Amino acid sequence: MCGIVGYIGEKCACDVLVEGLRRLEYRGYDSAGVALLVDDHINVVKTIGKVSVLENIIHDSKSARIGIGHTRWATHGEPNSVNAHPHTDCSGDIAVIHNGIIENYVALKKKLSCLGHEFKSQTDTEVLAHLIEEFNSRADNLEVAVRLALREVDGTFGLVVMSAKEPEVLVAARRGSPLLIGLGESEKLIASDASALIRHTRNVVYMHDNEIAVVTRNNVSLKNLDDETINREAEYLTFNLEQIEKGGFDHFMQKEISEQPETILNAFRGRLKDDEGIATMGGLRDVEDKVTNAKRFVIIACGTSWHAALVGKYIMEQHARIPVEVDYASEFRYRKPVLMEGDVVWAISQSGETLDTLAALREAKRAGVPVYGIVNVVGSTIARETDAGVYIHAGPEIGVASTKAFTSQLAVLNLINLLVSRKRKTLDAKQGKEIIEEMHRLPEKICQILDQKERIKEIAEEFRDSRNFLYLGRGVNFPVALEGALKMKEISYIHAEGYPAAEMKHGPIALIDEDMPAVFIALGHSTYHKSLSNIQEVLARKGKVIVVANEADGRLKDLSDHIIEIPRTLEILSPILSVIPLQLLSYYMAIERGCNVDQPRNLAKSVTVE
Ligand code: F6R
Repeated sequence: MCGIVGYIGEKCACDVLVEGLRRLEYRGYDSAGVALLVDDHINVVKTIGKVSVLENIIHDSKSARIGIGHTRWATHGEPNSVNAHPHTDCSGDIAVIHNGIIENYVALKKKLSCLGHEFKSQTDTEVLAHLIEEFNSRADNLEVAVRLALREVDGTFGLVVMSAKEPEVLVAARRGSPLLIGLGESEKLIASDASALIRHTRNVVYMHDNEIAVVTRNNVSLKNLDDETINREAEYLTFNLEQIEKGGFDHFMQKEISEQPETILNAFRGRLKDDEGIATMGGLRDVEDKVTNAKRFVIIACGTSWHAALVGKYIMEQHARIPVEVDYASEFRYRKPVLMEGDVVWAISQSGETLDTLAALREAKRAGVPVYGIVNVVGSTIARETDAGVYIHAGPEIGVASTKAFTSQLAVLNLINLLVSRKRKTLDAKQGKEIIEEMHRLPEKICQILDQKERIKEIAEEFRDSRNFLYLGRGVNFPVALEGALKMKEISYIHAEGYPAAEMKHGPIALIDEDMPAVFIALGHSTYHKSLSNIQEVLARKGKVIVVANEADGRLKDLSDHIIEIPRTLEILSPILSVIPLQLLSYYMAIERGCNVDQPRNLAKSVTVE
C-alpha cells in the first residue's frame, strides 16, 4: 500500500527520500510528500500525483539532513494534496507518515477537537499527529509521546514521526504494516520496503509488531510498546539493485514476464532429486512428517496467489490424494472456519505482507494447527510468522500485476505435490522422475512462448476496443482462466470474466455475440474433447475465439480465429506455460489502450489494509 521512507544522516535528506519514494511508488501512488527539517522548522511539501511532480516543487530544502517521505494509496479521504502525508500537528512541529488504518480515528478526532486541536485533512493519520502533540506536551520526549499515543489507537500502523524540537531523532513504530531500519555508517534509514534503502545499506533490522524504534544517525534503540528493550541481530539483504530496475525494458511487468525462464529455474534450484524422483525443500525439512501425514490442506491467499492455490488444489488432489480446501484469506478470517487435528494450513503470498492473509494465518495459528508459508519476499511478516515454509525465489516483483510470482508459486506447489505424493506413495519413483524431467524442460519451453510476443501483440491490436472478454478453461487450467481475466481487468481496465468452460452454458453464454472475444485454454489433456465442444458452442453464436493450444493442434486451428501455440508438457505443469500468453495479451492490450502498465489506477502492489 503506502510507501514510507525516513532518513537521518549526513547526506542531503531530500535526495535520499525522493529516490526512495521513487522506488516505492509501485506500492501506492495517488499522492506523495516529504517533511524536511530546515533551520529548526519542518518544511512539508506534498502533492497529488507522482513523485516526479513532488520533486519539482521541493525548493530550499537541500540543507536538511533528516526527513520523512510518503507515497499514498488513499483509504480515508480522497487523493489530494491536503490528504497526502506527511501530516502535522497544530504547531507544525511534529510530522507523521503512516501506512495502515486507525480504526477509532473518528472517536479520537472528536476528543482531540474538543481539546482544541484543528484538523486540516480527512485522513485517519492526522489524528496521530495531534495525539502525539497532546502527549508531547506532558511527556519527557518524542519517544514517550509516541508510545503513549499508540496506547490510545486501535488499528494498524507502520509509522515514522519527527519533531522540530528533537532534530536528531526519528521515531518509528509498527503494528501490522511492514517497517525495516537500514543501518548505514553515520546514517540510518527507515522504510516500508527494502528497495527504498538498499542503495545506502544492506544491513537491516526488521521491526516486528508492537515495537517502537528510536533512530539517530549513529544508533537504533528497539523496544516493545511496553518499553522493554529488544536486541535483534541485523540481517543482510542479498538482492541487488539491477533486480529492482527495469534493465532496458519499457515496463517492470514486461521485464518480469520475460524473467520467467530464470525464475522457474530458481524456484527448482537445489530442490529436485533427479535420481530418486522426489523434491526436497530446506524450509520444510523439519516438518516433512506433518506435511506428508496431513489429513487435509487448507490454503489461504488473495488475488493471484489465490489462483495459484486453486491450481495447487487440482494438482494435489489428483496426485497426492489429499483433500485441499482453498479459501480467500479475507473470508477465512471472518467466517469461523472449522480446523481439525491433522489439518495443515498454507499461506501463499508474493509480498508476505498482505494484511488479510496475515490475519487469516494468525487465526489458523490460534486454532492450534501448523501454518506454513509459500512466500516471495524474504524476511516479510508472513514468512516470519509461519511455522515453516518455502521461498519461491522469484526476486523482487515491482509491476503491480503479479506475473513471475504466480508461475513461481505454481512451481513450488508442484514441488510440494511431488514431495507429498512420493512420501505418501501415491506416485512411484518412475513417475516422480518423469515429472522432474519435465520440470527441467520448462525454462526452455517458456522461452519458446516468449518468442511469440509479436503474434500476441497483433491479437491485442485487433481486440483493443473490445469492452468485454471471457476466459474459459477446464480442470487445472480453470484457475488460469481466472488469472488471465484478472490480468486483463487490472491493467487494461477491460471487463473480463473467467469461468470453467463447461459452466458457460449455465449462464454466461447469454453474453456471446460477435463482439465478445472468448479466450480458451484448450490443451491436449483430460478434458480436451470437452473443451472442443465448448468452443463450438461459442462459434455457433458468432463469438470470436482465441485459443491457447498445444503446438501442431490441427483441429483447433480450424476452430479458432486466433491460436497461440505453446509446447506440450504434463497436465500438472501446464498452467506454468498456459498463463504466459495471457500475461502477454493483457500487457500488450494495456499498451494499445495507453494504460499505465506498472501502476494501474486504484491498485497497489502490497495490500496492507483490510
Ligand atoms: C494481481 C495481484 C494481486 C495479489 C494479491 C495478493 O496481479 O498482484 O491480486 O496477488 O493482492 O498479494 P500477495 O501475493 O502479495 O499476498
